[in-house]
Amino acid sequence: MKRIILLSIYLIVSVWANEPIQPIPQHIDYDVSKATLGKYLFIDPNLSSDGTVACVSCHSFETGGADPRPVSIGVKGRKGSVNAPTVYNSYFNFRQFWNGRAKDLKEQAEGPLHNPVEMDMNPEDVEAYLRQNSTYRTLFKKVYGTEPTYQQTLDAIAEFEKALYTPNAKFDRYLRHEVELSEEESQGYYLFKTLGCITCHNGINIGGNSYQKFGLIIPYTWENCFPDRFAVTQNPQDKNVYKVPTLRNITLTAPYFHNGSVLTLKEALQKMGYHNLGFDLSPDEITALIAFMKTLTGEQPKILQESDTTP
Ligand code: HEC
Ligand code: HEC
Repeated sequence: MKRIILLSIYLIVSVWANEPIQPIPQHIDYDVSKATLGKYLFIDPNLSSDGTVACVSCHSFETGGADPRPVSIGVKGRKGSVNAPTVYNSYFNFRQFWNGRAKDLKEQAEGPLHNPVEMDMNPEDVEAYLRQNSTYRTLFKKVYGTEPTYQQTLDAIAEFEKALYTPNAKFDRYLRHEVELSEEESQGYYLFKTLGCITCHNGINIGGNSYQKFGLIIPYTWENCFPDRFAVTQNPQDKNVYKVPTLRNITLTAPYFHNGSVLTLKEALQKMGYHNLGFDLSPDEITALIAFMKTLTGEQPKILQESDTTP
């Protein structure tokens, strides 16, 4: 019996290993108390200097965890210069931010809290606010056993983000042999692999695991390149190089590209085909690719559906 189980596990793993895309696990272990505390923090605008901006202001749960505005707007109406990517499934990215300057979610969370055009707080402000709030005092005591601290705040937010995974997309169910794709969706997946999209968009997040150039074959320079990889490495070869964005839930997360300059998926694909593959995609190819991309929409994270929010 044990051997049969091991053999089936081996077979399943090896079949997946041959697929360039892996399904999102149906269940991820996370600390429910920490994550639930993190959820409170994520939606609390009092963690910003003028009390108006929370993480959720730019990473909306209604629009796939991303910002529907081309560039985000922070405290006092201050405008940023880049499009906020989705926080859903960001746990699976090998680095955080468009140019990968944060190594994990905990390190990432410091960015927006400090950034003067986002939440504009410092660690002392965060601790002072949380410590004068009796609900937070009780919650931190329960979860961490101490008064609220800045490091625990980052830890709880990161744990909440770990819980923001979107399993059971039609495509994942196809990879698990539970459903068939329609003819058009299959054609889209076939094109995605044979045209070469898969060389950059692969793995569990269909992206999020390498840095690549925009304009690899036919160069293109964005008017606004920041924050490219060059900003981190100062290596001229890294100009216009970004962490490849995830394509999960891609139909929910318009506008596209790091500067939010492209409003439709169709135009994003035209640009990708032309600049990164070196040719024009035909209208039929675009239709099929979009049909495939629609199968990448997963379920809303379970932690957002739970009505009991007491940590
Ligand atoms: C004012 C808008 C705004 C607020 C508020 C904000 N973010 Fe973001 N977020 C962004 C933008 C813009 C980026 C992309 C910045 C970059 O890559 O340089 C981003 C990137 C991220 C990423 C990286 C995702 C990836 O794929 O690389 C994560 C995770 C994230 N934010 C989480 C948070 C958390 C947690 C908070 C609250 C503590 C927060 N954000 C608050 C706008 C915002
Ligand atoms: C050489 C690597 C590479 C190839 C090949 C490639 N992409 Fe991309 N893709 C990227 C990078 C890098 C970005 C981000 C560029 C930016 O924001 O400036 C991106 C962005 C995207 C986006 C926008 C995502 C978002 O959230 O803004 C979509 C959609 C996309 N690619 C789909 C495709 C499709 C479909 C193909 C095949 C026709 C393809 N890509 C081929 C590297 C690649």
